[in-house]
Amino acid sequence: MCGIVGYIGRKEKKEILIDVLQKLEYRGYDSEVIATIESKKLKNYKAIGKLANLREKTKSYQSDGFGISIGHTRWATHGKPTELNAHPHLGSYSYVVHNGIIENYQELKSSLQSDGVKFLSQTDTETIVHIFEREYDKSGNPFDAFSDTIEILEGAYATLLISEISPDTIFFAKHGSPLLIGFDKDEVYFASSDTPVIGKATEVYYLEDGEYGYTKDGKVHLFDANGEKSFNKQALTADKVSAQKDGYRFFMEKEIYEQSRVMSETMMGRVLDNTIALDELDDSFLDGITSIKICACGTSYHSALTSAYLFERISKIRCDIEIASEFRYKEPLLTPDTLFITISQSGETADTLEALKMAKRAGLKSLSICNVDNSSIVRESDSAILTRAGIEKGVASTKAFATQTMVLWILSLYIAQERKTISKDKLKSEITAMLHTPKSLIVTETLHSKLHRLSKRYLHGHGFFFIGRDIFFPLALEGALKLKEISYLHAEGYPAGEMKHGPIALADSELFTIALMPKTMHYEKIKSNVEELSARDTTILAISSLPFELADDFIQTKYDSHPMLEFFEMMVVTQLLALEISVRLGNDVDMPRNLAKSVTVE
Ligand code: G6P
Repeated sequence: MCGIVGYIGRKEKKEILIDVLQKLEYRGYDSEVIATIESKKLKNYKAIGKLANLREKTKSYQSDGFGISIGHTRWATHGKPTELNAHPHLGSYSYVVHNGIIENYQELKSSLQSDGVKFLSQTDTETIVHIFEREYDKSGNPFDAFSDTIEILEGAYATLLISEISPDTIFFAKHGSPLLIGFDKDEVYFASSDTPVIGKATEVYYLEDGEYGYTKDGKVHLFDANGEKSFNKQALTADKVSAQKDGYRFFMEKEIYEQSRVMSETMMGRVLDNTIALDELDDSFLDGITSIKICACGTSYHSALTSAYLFERISKIRCDIEIASEFRYKEPLLTPDTLFITISQSGETADTLEALKMAKRAGLKSLSICNVDNSSIVRESDSAILTRAGIEKGVASTKAFATQTMVLWILSLYIAQERKTISKDKLKSEITAMLHTPKSLIVTETLHSKLHRLSKRYLHGHGFFFIGRDIFFPLALEGALKLKEISYLHAEGYPAGEMKHGPIALADSELFTIALMPKTMHYEKIKSNVEELSARDTTILAISSLPFELADDFIQTKYDSHPMLEFFEMMVVTQLLALEISVRLGNDVDMPRNLAKSVTVE
């Protein structure tokens, strides 16, 4: 992943770079750096950990007059998060920052080392700068040297390179990792995503894979395999305002509270009185489609799993779900009667994007469900439905999951309506339930404080099982993932009926079971499964609208007229539980260790 930034112009560069890096920190926060060339001399500042450390280190630095600058926020892939491994990587007279993975770096490194090049870091990135300098030493032309470098690299990259031999130029290239160029008068910006440059650049160009070039004197020269090319900038919309905590302790907490409101946004214009409208899909969209395949990662994969129940049950269409990183290498059998759906909060997840490209090559129709307009996945798909959750900053996804699940529910009803596999009455009752979801997502003070009190009993023990059946199984997976991500405690999601086939061996009083017990879906079945665990002395936190006397702790839910209402209300409970446990353990809720919000490496 990692985030990269570049700026060329007269403004104070430190402030610009640090401001953009702060908004890119969701991409990783193992180390942060800025580097400039002013008066033809390279300068750089590196700090391990989050941006506050870099701010401290650069307190007394101020850039002066015209200059060029680059910055980087790292999520370590090759080599530990140390200062030596932090970007920018330095050759004799050049610096490079990079997001992605150079797959042939071992081979390149060995060849450079046999030419006498000394490597300072353990990263793949450092090879880029040494190859550039080797090529420059041969040709004496900086841009030729950069183009030759790009040609040699294999893997995924978005990279910026600056050099004392061309102190007014930033060289750039993109292949597989996101990069865009922002423009304002004669100033040029580079960034891994557009939100950080809003308010700075007024126009933007999103680079395509295989594009590279250089910028100098306020002009960008863009190339691809066919040589220099022209390009069209587009206006950068200013409505993607940056998120603030608005009085909440954490972004994640704010985002949990926002779910009720954003859910209404997600439904707006789509969920009507008696029908479902999806203007994003043209009339022939479902022509020739007999099955659905969905690829996603992490939390998005859990929303996909939930939807498989809905597509088969409501739309009567076969639906398979795959983890994108598995799908890519299994040589899947793809036929053009399959609708290929990708789900991604960020729209940049490398595995999901590559899965989409594979499906497109096989001639499948593609649809993405995404929270970020203009993201790589949205641009690559034939059609897209945006989730409208607004910016999600907490690394542990909450409102993105809720709105993805809602879009998928809407889509399942849309397909059922178009294919006439649903009666008018059933459609109406589903729509009525949908319109009640914002209520089921409201966080009351009573609920939050109860979970705050309860959380102190769940800080130790040897692990958590979240269990559920049907759509509550993916919710159990998601509940366990939330807890893992921000508490660092071991948690697993399991289908309740499967516990007896092995995991029940772990049952004792130190095992915590979070039981999702919806009234509207297989209540008696899950009740028996929980009783089996209780008989083995497991500590049970039951979440249900029906009282359950064997529970050690109990959260009573209110909205039990439809499974999806129970789903969303229970989802909020699991999110708040994870949050409160994490707070008690003193962890960084919004930026948990080792994770990143957007994963652009495979
Ligand atoms: C990362 C994030 C997860 C997210 C996953 C997929 O691992 O930490 O929260 O679910 O990527 O991301 P996407 O943007 O494709 O939904």
